Amino acid sequence: VTGDLAGFLAASWHRGVPLVQVPTTLLAMVDAAIGGKTAVNLRGGKNLVGAVHQPLAVYADTAALDTLPQARLRDGFAEVVKAGVIADAGLFRWLEPRAARLLERRPRLLTEAIDRSVQVKASVVRRDEREAGRRAMLNFGHTVAHALEAASGYRVSHGRAVAIGMVVEAHLAVAATGFPVAELERLERLLAAFGLPTRVPPGLAPERLARAARRDKKARRGRTRYALPLRLGRMPAGSDPTREISDTDLLEALRGLQTGPRRPKLTSL
Ligand SMILES: NC(=O)c1ccc[n+]([C@@H]2O[C@H](COP(=O)([O-])OP(=O)(O)OC[C@H]3O[C@@H](n4cnc5c(N)ncnc54)[C@H](O)[C@@H]3O)[C@@H](O)[C@H]2O)c1
Ligand SMILES: [Zn+2]
Repeated sequence: VTGDLAGFLAASWHRGVPLVQVPTTLLAMVDAAIGGKTAVNLRGGKNLVGAVHQPLAVYADTAALDTLPQARLRDGFAEVVKAGVIADAGLFRWLEPRAARLLERRPRLLTEAIDRSVQVKASVVRRDEREAGRRAMLNFGHTVAHALEAASGYRVSHGRAVAIGMVVEAHLAVAATGFPVAELERLERLLAAFGLPTRVPPGLAPERLARAARRDKKARRGRTRYALPLRLGRMPAGSDPTREISDTDLLEALRGLQTGPRRPKLTSL
C-alpha cells in the first residue's frame, strides 16, 4: 500500500519525479513494486486512481521480511504461485515440495522464490507495459479477487483474495481452455500448503460477487473477460490472452466453491 501510494505521488508530483521502490512485504517484492503500476483505492472501487510510473530501481532485502506477520507472508506466496501458473511451470514444480520450508523463511529459498517471480513479472511487463495485450495475463485470479475484496469491504486481504480467485478462475478455465483437472488439483494443494484459502468464504453471496466482477473494467453485456491458463505455465498465445465467460458460468462456479453456511460473520477472514 505504501509503495502504491508513494508511486502514485511520485508519478503526479511535478508530472513525475524519479522513484526508488523499497518493498518490505513479500507481496510487494514479487509483484506490486515491479512493473510501474501504481494506484490507490477509492470508496467506489479498487485502483480507481493511478498511473504507470517505472521506478529507477527496486531494492528487495529479505531481511525486511523477518518482522512480517505470517499471514502477510502467506499473502505474498499467492502471487508467487500465480507467477508459476501463468508463465513458469518449473517455478510451480519447484514450490510444491518447498512450501513448508519457505514459510519458515529460509533465506536462500526466499531469495530464489523472489528472484524467479520477479523475472516472470518483469518479462511480461517489458513486452507490454500498458496492458495493450499480453500484460493482461498477470490478471489471472484477479477479476474474482477484486470482486471478493470489494464485496467484503476489503476485509479479505489481497493475497487471500487472489488465492480464492485463482481457484475459481481455474475452474472456469477447465471448461473454457481445457485446463487439466489434475493441474487444478495441484493448484489447490499448493495454495493450501501455503496456508491460503481455496474456497469462497461463507457470508459472501455469489450473486453479489458476480455483480462486483461485472463492474470490472473488462466486463460488458453479461460477459466478462478473464485471463485463463491453458496449462500450468502456459497462457493462450497471441496478443490477447483473455477469454469471455458468461456471468451465469461464473455464478455456477462461485456457488460450487462456496463453503459452509451462507451468512456467518466476516470477522473470521
Ligand atoms: N501496483 C501493483 O502492481 C500491485 C500489485 C499487486 C498488489 N498491489 C496492491 O498491494 C496491496 C497489498 O500489499 P501488501 O500485501 O504488501 O500489504 P500492505 O502494504 O497492506 O502491508 C501489509 C501489512 O504489513 C505491514 N508491514 C509491511 N512491511 C512489514 C514488515 N517488513 N514488517 C512488519 N510489518 C510490515 C504493513 O504495515 C501492513 O499492516 C493491495 O492493495 C494490492 O492491491 C498492487
Ligand atoms: Zn495481485
